Amino acid sequence: MGLRRLAVAAAVLAVCAAAVEGFDILQILGKHDEFSQFCKLLNETHLAGDINRDRTITVLAVANGDMGHLTSAHYSLGTIRHILELHVVADYYDEKKLKQLSHGATAASTLFQRSGFAPGMAGYVNITQHRGGKVTFIVDDAADSVKPVTFVKQIESHRYDYSVLQVSSVLSSPEAEAPVAPPAPVNLTELLSKKYCKSFAGLLAADAKAFDTINGTKDTALTLFCPVDAAVAAFMPKFKNLTAKAKTAILLYHAVPDYYSMQFLKSNKGKVTTLASTSVAKKDYTYEAQTEADTVTLDTTVTTSTIQATVRDDDPLAIYAVSKFLQPKELFKPKKAEDLAPSPAPEVPKKKTKKKPGSTSAAAAPSDDDSADGPAADDSADDAADKAGAAPSMLTRWGTAAAMVAAALALGA
Ligand SMILES: *[C@@H]1O[C@H](CO)[C@@H](O)[C@H](O)[C@H]1NC(C)=O
Ligand SMILES: *[C@@H]1O[C@H](CO)[C@@H](O)[C@H](O)[C@H]1NC(C)=O
Ligand SMILES: *[C@@H]1O[C@H](CO)[C@@H](O)[C@H](O)[C@H]1NC(C)=O
Ligand SMILES: *[C@@H]1O[C@H](CO)[C@@H](O)[C@H](O)[C@H]1NC(C)=O
Ligand SMILES: *[C@@H]1O[C@H](CO)[C@@H](O)[C@H](O)[C@H]1NC(C)=O
Repeated sequence: MGLRRLAVAAAVLAVCAAAVEGFDILQILGKHDEFSQFCKLLNETHLAGDINRDRTITVLAVANGDMGHLTSAHYSLGTIRHILELHVVADYYDEKKLKQLSHGATAASTLFQRSGFAPGMAGYVNITQHRGGKVTFIVDDAADSVKPVTFVKQIESHRYDYSVLQVSSVLSSPEAEAPVAPPAPVNLTELLSKKYCKSFAGLLAADAKAFDTINGTKDTALTLFCPVDAAVAAFMPKFKNLTAKAKTAILLYHAVPDYYSMQFLKSNKGKVTTLASTSVAKKDYTYEAQTEADTVTLDTTVTTSTIQATVRDDDPLAIYAVSKFLQPKELFKPKKAEDLAPSPAPEVPKKKTKKKPGSTSAAAAPSDDDSADGPAADDSADDAADKAGAAPSMLTRWGTAAAMVAAALALGA
């Protein structure tokens, strides 16, 4: 068990380190009040997420007073996103590199180019170094009337990785300003039913609270892990035994109020906080995500489920079909415990008898429902889990790196 704990602590440490190193454009610009409007738009258009996921990138930020028509005009969010994409160069340029451009000029591709909405060279910016050291940026096929924007100063840079520069005003072009049709509304039930997750769609549709919470989150940022039909069928006997509140909690347990692209999931690991953590329960309701041999696994300590297919991966909504129903440790016995108790403890609705006389005491049934039954029942479940050697509770609080280091040292000694 000591080894197991050590391994867990080490894994958690790795996550903390990754989080510290992570590049967050909103955090960098957030330190400077004068970029609050630019920051706000990066966030609202979800471009910030794409920037953070990228490597080798240069952001051309514009100060509040220089935002001009970008804040005053009535552009749709889709159009604003395209204009902002022109400000994200898919290459590394810090001040030094700008001042040393060979031949004094270069064309660099931007995220607008990558969006697929930029015809011809409309997704490129020309960077020109002028006599006297002035550096300007202009959209490649801009009309004669468009004035170039000027490099003002370097805000922050991390060599060959990312660079954030201030420019004098907004870069734009007719192509970027073109109206963008709003994305077609997503019908969650339809999307889930089409592939892999018809049964799960049915469970959601039957639970208004779970459905409304998930449906209400999908337009902001949502990752949904939907168990494939076979997984739902296998879990149905247990599901039926849950109280109404526990059913809602377990459905919400499959939804994460954040957008995780497949690329992001494969290159990160750590604790996943779910809609059950945030909306129904005071309890943890999290699990660990990691990638092994290119397969993303979700480990709840009760079940280990793997992502089998992508139903949709389109910011701000990702839906992945998973191999097993995710069973939270808040409602079911952790894997280790099953070794001790050959017949897994049933999850029973509150009103029914929990334990038949003579049933093994090791089976000490975890509480059926967290929010419904109050603290006493919950604690007994947790105690049972702890005694059975479940992961230490500090695992769920990996935000405190210092505690983790201390724990790792203590365990490793
Ligand atoms: C980004 O927007 C979300 C709401 O969509 C908000 O909760 C969050 O605080 C914003 N982040 C920043 C850094 O502005
Ligand atoms: C950008 O550079 C290309 C190639 O050097 C050139 O053909 C084009 O005219 C330039 N565009 C502008 C707006 O300066
Ligand atoms: C979504 O799709 C389902 C199944 O196709 C349908 O029954 C439902 O009416 C649709 N909901 C909306 C809001 O369009
Ligand atoms: C789900 O949310 C959409 C908005 O994205 C809304 O139009 C739709 O009516 C909602 N569906 C249900 C069944 O409430
Ligand atoms: C459901 O609850 C009943 C009554 O407590 C129990 O006999 C049965 O084994 C449970 N089923 C499952 C799958 O947990």
